[in-house]
Amino acid sequence: MLLVGHELALGEIGTRLDKQSTGSLKRPAGAANFNGKARSTVEILAPAGLEVKRVVLVGCGRAAQNEPLDWMRIGGAAWAQALQRASDTVSLVADDEAITPAAVARMAEGAVLRAYNFRKYKSRKATEENGDNGQSKPPSALVVHCPDPTAAEAAFAQRSAVAEGVYLARDLVNEPANALGPVEFAERLAGLGVQGLDVEVLDLEQLSALKMGALLAVGQGSAREGRVVVMQWNGAKGRSKAKAPLCFIGKGVVFDTGGISMKPAAGMEDMKGDMGGAACVSGLMLGLARRKANVNAIGLVGLVENMPSGTATRPGDIVTSMSGQTIEILNTDAEGRLVLADVLWYAQERFKPRLMVDLATLTGAIMVALGKEHAGLFANNDKLARELEEAGIATGERVWRMPLLPAYDKLIDSKNADMKNIGGRFGGAITAAQFLQRFVRDSTTPWAHLDVAGTAMDSNRDEVNQSWASGWGVRLLDEMVAAHYE
Ligand code: BES
Ligand code: MN
Ligand code: ZN
Repeated sequence: MLLVGHELALGEIGTRLDKQSTGSLKRPAGAANFNGKARSTVEILAPAGLEVKRVVLVGCGRAAQNEPLDWMRIGGAAWAQALQRASDTVSLVADDEAITPAAVARMAEGAVLRAYNFRKYKSRKATEENGDNGQSKPPSALVVHCPDPTAAEAAFAQRSAVAEGVYLARDLVNEPANALGPVEFAERLAGLGVQGLDVEVLDLEQLSALKMGALLAVGQGSAREGRVVVMQWNGAKGRSKAKAPLCFIGKGVVFDTGGISMKPAAGMEDMKGDMGGAACVSGLMLGLARRKANVNAIGLVGLVENMPSGTATRPGDIVTSMSGQTIEILNTDAEGRLVLADVLWYAQERFKPRLMVDLATLTGAIMVALGKEHAGLFANNDKLARELEEAGIATGERVWRMPLLPAYDKLIDSKNADMKNIGGRFGGAITAAQFLQRFVRDSTTPWAHLDVAGTAMDSNRDEVNQSWASGWGVRLLDEMVAAHYE
């Protein structure tokens, strides 16, 4: 493959190849109206004078103007082309000066993210059978030819660390709930200790001792015990060493049947992904550790299964959360907020964080409001909200800010307890966020909530993701950390 810039601009190698083949690269490309536009491609078969079966030209547009995300998308588009052809190793020539080592690293990152698939439960592996195109097995390597491979490799090491985090998040979300209960999830995370993370698993006894009555109420119908996992990355160097940590908190409902307020059967299988927030936090922490980020960050995930049974919470039950506030559970399907309430509180009590971001596949209502192009963002702090919005634009993991107001908060007041866990017909994503805000202990602690119900799973496929589980948010939060907290 050969990277081609705006108006068929070629680098040194490309120019040489085109000459050697007496113009049989540029000429047919021009005839096909290929202009080098970013992500456009054209295939030249058996070019004269060259000993290759084919050259695929991949457009990169005006290279000097491309943002990191543009390069990722180009890399993803290149990999998509590679997949369609029977070739074990694919070479990508990217030798134009405007293509910096950072750009090369981003293209490789895009290709790696595009290459993800979840074939674990397919008896016949990709190596034995046809690839996703039905014609050939996928290539085993992408070799990029660029002017400064050493610098490109160093840049890619950083990007590859983040991509590993995205892979972990996708794997966790794709995994079916019979294989990934709270205990198995916690074990997977405990295994991340080797990456330099300090991982603690809180078991049922410890959660009871901590009086996490809201989280425990969600898990009590399941035959499988709940867990809370705390992952610490203490990577800050020098003066920032003493700074309070950033806390990332994830909803990890390994399966959400709705409980006694049971969900309809159609589509319920998707609720294996109701731990997308927890998966993102896990992937983020892995990425920070793998790239040795200069930051102190803590990931906390609340892992439970929401099941109906003789021991399940009933509608109308009143529980006491770790904060001491009482909650009337009017709908057992509004469980995510109960889990987060206690994990948020625990994070603040124990770590006095500099800021908190929680992620949750919290409401269907956020998809009604925003579709699947943006996650819902709720925040008590404009600066934090802006940082997330900017990181969203940079990574393509976009967020859209939604309102918080006392008038919405009133909707979750309860006759019988301090609050109820549903707010009525309207503004469902907002009342869920208001509920969470009641567990932000100190209103001066910057806090943001991301409702990722529309983006963590079955989101729109794009150049860098073709998987049901997107791993959404790993790159967003990594970017936020890198841009403002390292
Ligand atoms: N996990 C669901 C939200 C969800 C729905 C995520 C679809 C992804 C796709 C959440 O626990 C839930 O059931 N929310 C209810 C809240 C309602 C009972 C107030 C919802 O959105 O219907
Ligand atoms: Mn639910
Ligand atoms: Zn749920």
